[in-house]
Amino acid sequence: MSHSTLNRLCVITGATAGIGRASALALAALGFDLVLLGRRQHQGNALQNTLSRRHAIGHFQFVPCDLSSLVSVREAGERIREEHRSIDVLINNAGARFDRYEESVDGIELTFATNHLGHFLLTSLLLDRILGAPNNRIVTLSSQRHRYVAHVKPWLATRESFDRWDVYSRAKLANTLFAFELARRLEQAAVASNAVDPGIVASQFARNNGRVAWTKHIVSSLIHRQLISCARAAQTVVYAAASSETRGKTGKYFYERKEAAPSELALDAGLAAQLWKCSLEWTGLNRKNCPAWPIVGMDLTQKVK
Ligand SMILES: NC(=O)c1ccc[n+]([C@@H]2O[C@H](COP(=O)([O-])OP(=O)(O)OC[C@H]3O[C@@H](n4cnc5c(N)ncnc54)[C@H](OP(=O)(O)O)[C@@H]3O)[C@@H](O)[C@H]2O)c1
Repeated sequence: MSHSTLNRLCVITGATAGIGRASALALAALGFDLVLLGRRQHQGNALQNTLSRRHAIGHFQFVPCDLSSLVSVREAGERIREEHRSIDVLINNAGARFDRYEESVDGIELTFATNHLGHFLLTSLLLDRILGAPNNRIVTLSSQRHRYVAHVKPWLATRESFDRWDVYSRAKLANTLFAFELARRLEQAAVASNAVDPGIVASQFARNNGRVAWTKHIVSSLIHRQLISCARAAQTVVYAAASSETRGKTGKYFYERKEAAPSELALDAGLAAQLWKCSLEWTGLNRKNCPAWPIVGMDLTQKVK
């Protein structure tokens, strides 16, 4: 796989574990400078040290960010905006599934807040920095679970309606719809936005639900011979983020370093527009409090035709 050397700075969420960490290691080896977002400072420091030892000329920065908290995402977004004029690649990677109903500090069901809303806000805050970079790309991590959503329901589960798999599947559908809606809205601005299905991966995913739940997930995937390593999953992320083969592609879904078909629902532009509207409302974003949007020169609050 050949990669463009034009890309320089990549911002990646959920960089301290799993697929995000493996992607960070692979991108650093390609010569990227990295802004690593994560919740735990000690893990961020450890990753920074590993990367600096391996790549003496690279620049690696850790920025604390809890994707489930709108205040934390705003703080991280504002800090990155202040310190970086231009971002070549944004990878919306962080994600989690929760076995029980929980709410974020903003009172939003935690799976949806973490996987989708945090990335909606972060991407919006950084858009002008991305727009200014040559060969820019936004990559959002989806999952084959997005295919399990058969019909439209309210986006936010309540304590009563909560079903852990359904809620996770909807959050990954939201990631996919967001990636494609962004591609439509940014087509004129030539910003590429794509979704990646990393496969079923032997990462720390679902570990937050306890060791037993995590071991079950790993063992059942192993039995079905589906499990792949984080390094292999990261190859598709890097393919979308940096390969010359994917340059200029937008609104695509990548799996195993190839273009693949997402579910029909993921291509529903009406549903994507409705999700966009809800996401604006739940993040409280508007033209006045999103410094990137006037600079981008588009009214991202308007529906695309
Ligand atoms: N593993 C799979 O089989 C699989 C399959 C399809 C899609 N995916 C997707 O791939 C992406 C990466 O998952 P993974 O498998 O690498 O899982 P992982 O090993 O659990 O890593 C997830 C990363 O997201 C971070 N994260 C979780 N909640 C966060 C929050 N509130 N704020 C900031 N960061 C947060 C984690 O940070 P902490 O270390 O602080 O928790 C961790 O760095 C996710 O979007 C997931 O949905 C995974």
